[in-house]
Amino acid sequence: MAGRHTLTIIKPDAFGAGKAGLILALLEQHGFTVKAARVLHLSAAQAGAFYAVHAGRGFFGELVEFMSSGPCMPMLLERDDAVATLRTVIGATDPAEAAEGTVRKLYAESKGRNAIHASDSDENAQIEAAFFFSGVDTVRG
Ligand code: CMP
Repeated sequence: MAGRHTLTIIKPDAFGAGKAGLILALLEQHGFTVKAARVLHLSAAQAGAFYAVHAGRGFFGELVEFMSSGPCMPMLLERDDAVATLRTVIGATDPAEAAEGTVRKLYAESKGRNAIHASDSDENAQIEAAFFFSGVDTVRG
């Protein structure tokens, strides 16, 4: 059964442009509740660890540099069918291919600087949530 939690990150491009509030409002309009949130500036090593699954891909260096270029805002989100719903709401990786009204269509510049991350499976949502949050950070219920 699809899970009720997913991990998102408002990336340094969108956070630095002051779009965090608008993006969170859009996510809340789609029924998501914030269970945990923080703002932090990842080191290159931390960004590389988070995206370790992409190590060796041609864009990995660019991805690590971008994700460690400024503050970002990870959030643990809750709603029914959380992973699939959030991926629909954020839109395609490349904003040129993202549907109207999606976060990336509205706020992303390019495939690399694409405003927001979302977990791609329930398993990765758990792993990614544990990367940023411990039990004490997460609102119960
Ligand atoms: P995200 O959903 O955070 O997951 C992996 C990230 O790698 C993806 O968003 C993009 O930001 C980035 N990415 C994927 N493909 C490319 C690419 N071809 N060039 C640059 N960055 C990419």
